[in-house]
Amino acid sequence: MNYIKSEGSAKMIYKILFLLFLNFNYDKFTANASSDCIPRRTKYGLVCVCTADHCDYLENPQPSSNELVVISSSKEGLRFAVSKLNFGEINTKTNAETSLNESNGDFENSAVIVDSRQTFAQLLIDTSELLTSRFTANNPLKLRVNRSVEYQKITGFGGAFTGTVSHLLGQLDQKLQDHIYKSYYHKDGIGFNMLRTPIGGCDFDLAPWAYNEEPRDDPKLSNFQKLDPRDEIKVQQMERLKSVSNLEHLKIMAVAWSSPTWMKTNGQWSGIGLLKTEYYQAWADYHLRFIELMDAKNMPIWAISTGNEPLNGIAFFFFVHFMSLGWIPRNQAVWLNDFLGPTIRKSKFKNVLIFGNDDQRYSYPSWFIQMNRTRPGVLNYLDGLAVHWYWDEMFAPNLIDLTVAQLPGKIVLNTESCIGDKPWQTHGPELGSWERGEQYVRDILHNLQHSYNGWIDWNLVLDEQGGPNYVNNFVDAAVIVNATNRAEIYKQPIFYGMGHFSKFLPEGSVRIEAKLLSVAVEVVAFKRPDQRIAVVLLNSESRAVDVLLTDSVRGEIKINIPAHSWHTIVYN
Ligand SMILES: *[C@@H]1O[C@H](CO)[C@@H](O)[C@H](O)[C@H]1NC(C)=O
Ligand SMILES: *[C@@H]1O[C@H](CO)[C@@H](O)[C@H](O)[C@H]1NC(C)=O
Ligand SMILES: *[C@@H]1O[C@H](CO)[C@@H](O)[C@H](O)[C@H]1NC(C)=O
Ligand SMILES: *[C@@H]1O[C@H](CO)[C@@H](O)[C@H](O)[C@H]1NC(C)=O
Repeated sequence: MNYIKSEGSAKMIYKILFLLFLNFNYDKFTANASSDCIPRRTKYGLVCVCTADHCDYLENPQPSSNELVVISSSKEGLRFAVSKLNFGEINTKTNAETSLNESNGDFENSAVIVDSRQTFAQLLIDTSELLTSRFTANNPLKLRVNRSVEYQKITGFGGAFTGTVSHLLGQLDQKLQDHIYKSYYHKDGIGFNMLRTPIGGCDFDLAPWAYNEEPRDDPKLSNFQKLDPRDEIKVQQMERLKSVSNLEHLKIMAVAWSSPTWMKTNGQWSGIGLLKTEYYQAWADYHLRFIELMDAKNMPIWAISTGNEPLNGIAFFFFVHFMSLGWIPRNQAVWLNDFLGPTIRKSKFKNVLIFGNDDQRYSYPSWFIQMNRTRPGVLNYLDGLAVHWYWDEMFAPNLIDLTVAQLPGKIVLNTESCIGDKPWQTHGPELGSWERGEQYVRDILHNLQHSYNGWIDWNLVLDEQGGPNYVNNFVDAAVIVNATNRAEIYKQPIFYGMGHFSKFLPEGSVRIEAKLLSVAVEVVAFKRPDQRIAVVLLNSESRAVDVLLTDSVRGEIKINIPAHSWHTIVYN
């Protein structure tokens, strides 16, 4: 079936943003709280620019009973472009071919369904070319969604509030700061509900630091009676984040990178340094003290972990020059079982969740098996498993499935991700890179296809260099701040990539079965608390692809998705 006449090319295909094969009704999307992306071309792709006066938002589409809403982003320039189609008329109308007939000039009415207000769309659609493009739809990929097969529930999505993030936010005027908070945490942004923050310093800070560095050898933590001024600022920023985002419950995960140096065997921030056994209780108290002080500021801690990347202080000290505390599973089992676990559970804050490992996939499940050998029952102290994404391309997600099979009922979260961390990668941001966004989308999708309940990204914002920090460790982030003019921020494809999940999969969404036999196009589907279905699709092909979606209740719909694109399809 050829719907559009004359010579087509991959280039034209991108320019057609969405093609329908049957004659569905659709509306142009008009939402009050929405505003458009202001696109800027960069060396690596496209970013959306926000200033104090303008930032892009999208009010969550609420499809009515028969409607199906498709939210799309593409390499060629769509960013959360909304199309509405109508499910009910599937297979009832047969005039699609007429309306898309070669000799019929009104193709654009029926075929392209994208918000024409989008600056990108105006930039990219040339209707004359559109009318001369060619599409074929002989073998659509068959996507089957069966809502009666259920898997894990979503806990949430978030990013990290490091010292660097706090420092950069502090340089921006309030309106621009607010756009960052709202872009991430408001429902009209990408609806994050989680935040990871260090206890003391981490690698993204202006200096390494911990509470109670002085006096030394002070297990009573006599100098840890109030929050550090840096944390006081963070708390104010988090208050602002919550209020401008209308967010009542922010799930804050607090994690320590290193103890004060006097608690460590090597007396230094980095290198091979473990906790001295005589300070096991002090280090547990240190965590509880932070929880108490944050709570006193009305910023309750939702969860802690047993410590960031414990292997850095054991095995990877050649590469890792930032503050780290080393653990081996045997010692951590003793600390968790005999000190941290009882300290938290016997306190007023016994409901604070404890996450284990907080390191790479390759340590799963052996880390936990070894802990359990040292202290049988220790794993009962864990509410969740925290995983970092850095070696996901080499270690498959079934390592997590294996762990979950042995430790059922634990919340599995990715707790750190960024690009540019590897020696062979270009350090720092590649502003506008679609490929980096696609790496995120693929990994989040794979994780969700397995046992993960959510995802926390690394720094919410970084500067153009991917810093600043005290170790000149430069990496990418979803939003980049122009620290030169302090007047612009850039939302990268990574931001929208995470948003295709976080915005449309609120807490409590349940994964359902979605099958698609394809390498190029991948899918994951959820039933949300509002009972709507949300299907996330990734097309990593450099050509447009036809997908025939069959829902176990609704029936069929055929859509065409452009080259290198991501979509969230929401329907009842
Ligand atoms: C396309 O239009 C031509 C001329 O109007 C008509 O003869 C032909 O049947 C149409 N094709 C389809 C598939 O409707
Ligand atoms: C922990 O150890 C106990 C007995 O020592 C064993 O029954 C259990 O299966 C172990 N759990 C894990 C996750 O290794
Ligand atoms: C940041 O702002 C400066 C000064 O206005 C400008 O020269 C520079 O190009 C901007 N950076 C980016 C990445 O756009
Ligand atoms: C959906 O899954 C259920 C449970 O496995 C099964 O009974 C049903 O036949 C499936 N429906 C379709 C349309 O495949």
